[in-house]
Amino acid sequence: MKVATIVGVRPEFIKMPIVTKEFRRLGIEEVIIHTGQHYDYEMDKIFFEQLKIPEPHYNLGIGSGTHGYQTGEMLKKIEEVLIKERPEIVIVYGDTNSTLAGALAATKIHIQVAHVEAGLRCFDKKMPEEINRILTDRISDYLFAPTERAVKNLEREGITSGVYFVGDVMLDVAMQNIKFAEKSSKILESIGLKKKEYILATIHRAENTDNRENLKRIVEAFVNSGEKIVLPIHPRTRKMLAQYLLLEKLESAKNVIVTNPVSYFDMLILEKNARKIITDSGGVQKEAYFFKVPCITLREKTEWIETVEDGWNFLAGTKKGKIVWAIENFEPKGKTYPHKFGDGKASEKIVKILSEKLLEKCDS
Ligand code: UD1
Ligand code: UDP
Repeated sequence: MKVATIVGVRPEFIKMPIVTKEFRRLGIEEVIIHTGQHYDYEMDKIFFEQLKIPEPHYNLGIGSGTHGYQTGEMLKKIEEVLIKERPEIVIVYGDTNSTLAGALAATKIHIQVAHVEAGLRCFDKKMPEEINRILTDRISDYLFAPTERAVKNLEREGITSGVYFVGDVMLDVAMQNIKFAEKSSKILESIGLKKKEYILATIHRAENTDNRENLKRIVEAFVNSGEKIVLPIHPRTRKMLAQYLLLEKLESAKNVIVTNPVSYFDMLILEKNARKIITDSGGVQKEAYFFKVPCITLREKTEWIETVEDGWNFLAGTKKGKIVWAIENFEPKGKTYPHKFGDGKASEKIVKILSEKLLEKCDS
């Protein structure tokens, strides 16, 4: 009984270990295939070291490029590995180019696909992630939905077979790791931050980074707000800020602290102790909700609608005035309902279901 897991980017390295641990506990062999989509130390190896993930069996070294280049190269190389390894099931996470390439490579050679974080939709097909989600769900055999809403989204598209509401592995991961983070992280001291006296920000979405006007408005909102803002910067964003001649403005602002991307433990601590979070990340929106930190999202739409409905996430888009208003005034009133994202046992449920399916395959 063998499964193969395909990962390639930061959030996938964070989600995978908790599921991998379960496979190991049940004695199921797992081949880990890393596409190499992310490769800088702070975007890649740091998570393998900190979360004690075994070294990937394969690193395909695809690296950066256009969507067509990345997805095409991944498809070719993943197929070669899958033909050699012949796993019973391939597991993919989320909505990245690595996700889609992994699912497509597997299904074309009749290997079953399990999609973790299935059924999410933001209903904006201009986002590459939305295309990756829709296509991956369409060709998956097992669809592990993180929320009830995700199940409904799939139903609406006629996908009902193989769908399981298991909860969100990111809730499991955050809840399990926050206690280790609290013991080991020194990030607040090293940056010189006091709890609840700063705002944490992340930016990396293509529609923000690859559009000078959007990025300029975001930079101006940060600088004009006068609030202490900590920005662990994604390499994509650093590159585009430099290209648009905006990096110096940001780095020289007295109220903005720009750092390299941080480890997962440091990020959890920065999130939990922030007064507010400003982000365009999918994962960070949820972590803000899990830690009851008000979130301002630099997008017009989100796939994590629950966080908005419950009043903890404000969709500011990239309007300067709206961002500044939210930094000063946005205060959630109600409670958060983390159980909407499951009971913290998503990874156990996923592996239990997959192990039963593997047994059925062995018997047949
Ligand atoms: C990708 C995912 C996105 C996910 C994000 C997580 C797709 C289409 N996008 O976006 O859904 O939210 O990962 O962080 O799959 N770069 C480096 N070093 C690295 C990685 C990237 O310098 O280790 C730079 C390169 O200039 C590269 C750019 O960042 O061209 C974008 O990287 P890429 O992996 O294509 O997309 P992300 O924006 O990281
Ligand atoms: N994260 C991290 N260090 C950082 C920024 C983010 O460890 O410097 C973590 C964050 O806590 C979350 C995940 O990375 O668990 C989110 O990844 P990202 O924002 O890159 O992608 P998305 O979730 O939008 O796909």
